[in-house]
Formats: sequence, C-alpha cells, structure tokens
Amino acid sequence: MFPLKGVSFVVTTLTVDKPAPKVCAASPKAFRSIEIDDFVAFVLAGGEVTGQGLRSRVLQAACISYLKSDDCLLGVAGLKSPDSGYRARVAKHSKTKLIEKDFPYELGWIFILPSARGHKFSYPLCQPVVAAANGAGIFATSRTTLAGMHRTLERLQFVRTGSEWPSKQNDGKLALFLRPAS
Ligand SMILES: CC(C)(COP(=O)(O)OP(=O)(O)OC[C@H]1O[C@@H](n2cnc3c(N)ncnc32)[C@H](O)[C@@H]1OP(=O)(O)O)[C@@H](O)C(=O)NCCC(=O)NCCS
Repeated sequence: MFPLKGVSFVVTTLTVDKPAPKVCAASPKAFRSIEIDDFVAFVLAGGEVTGQGLRSRVLQAACISYLKSDDCLLGVAGLKSPDSGYRARVAKHSKTKLIEKDFPYELGWIFILPSARGHKFSYPLCQPVVAAANGAGIFATSRTTLAGMHRTLERLQFVRTGSEWPSKQNDGKLALFLRPAS
C-alpha cells in the first residue's frame, strides 16, 4: 500500500556541481534502437505531430540530435526529408514556394523537457542538425507564439516568410521560416 499511513517522507536536495549538458548529433543509424524509442517519445510529448509512421520517419532523417545531462535525456531535434504531400501542404498554407530542389530539408521534432527550458539549450541542440544540411536549404514551421524558438531560428539564419495558418494539432497559428541554400 502506498502511501503508508502515518509515515512522513523527507526529500533532501543535494547541491552538486553538475556538468553542462551535452549535445550528440548524428545519422539515426548511429543510435541504438532504444535511443530511437526515446527520441520518438520526446517528439510525441511535444504534441505537434502524429505518431503514425513517426518511428520510420525518424529513422529516415538526415540527422537527429540529443541534449543530455549525464545519462538523462533533456531534448531532441531532427533534420527531416519531408514527403512531397506535406511539403505541398506547408507551401499552400503559407502561400510560399517550397520547391524540393531549393529546400530539401525541414528542421523539426524540436522538444526540450519543461524543466530544462529557458537555459538557451535550443540553439546548441539545433545547430549541429542545421550544419548537417551542408548548406542546402531548410524550412521550419513554428507556432507564432514561440518567441524564444523564433529567436533561435533567426540565430540559425532562418527568415520568417509567408502567411500564417491555423495549426491542426494545437490552438493558434503556425508560421514558416526559411534558411535558403548558402
Ligand atoms: C521551443 C523550445 C525548444 C525552446 O526552448 P527553450 O528552452 O524554451 O528556449 P531557450 O532557452 O533555448 O531560448 C531560446 C532563445 O529565445 C530567447 N527567449 C526566451 N524566451 C523569450 C521570449 N519570451 N521572447 C523573446 N526571446 C525569448 C532566449 O534568450 C534565447 O535567445 P538567445 O540564445 O539569443 O539569448 C521549448 O520551449 C520546447 O521544447 N517547447 C515545446 C515544444 C515545441 O513547441 N516545439 C516546437 C518548436 S518549433
């Protein structure tokens, strides 16, 4: 039986110097199956995408990135190769040309645990994923209210473009960000 009647618990906080979190980014093939499961679980926790086919889309990504403190996973991000149907929908909603030749990749699946937010980890988490595109064009979508993420996208040389459109997954609107080929 839990909790036990009449038993009180004391929580002690130990203050130790924690090493700074580390980012590990590579092709999905470089990670263990269980690490891919963790990635998928974090993406689903973000509530921005549907779970159907997600694991196989993650395995086909150009690069995925993990933010870890010791062995504890704090965040994820990925460089996807979006399918033509999704690309066409984003282009239509944003009223912007998104030709595959110009923008072969999408930066997405960005999620940081709530308790790890506000520490400026989103830039180091996304930066190696963007670098993995080797200068090819990348697009990203973001809710219009995510001012912090927009700041990180701007630091990564994305420019907000086109019209906003209502999100299917959440309340509010989405906006398109483009990082043209360099
Ligand atoms: C989106 C998300 C990854 C951002 O991470 P975060 O930890 O909240 O943000 P960071 O601490 O990395 O801050 C990013 C930048 O925004 C700035 N910032 C934070 N809050 C801000 C605000 N309200 N207005 C303007 N700038 C802000 C920070 O100073 C930082 O900029 P700097 O590095 O140039 O100083 C995180 O909030 C998250 O996981 N949200 C849920 C999932 C989600 O919405 N994903 C979709 C992303 S497109």
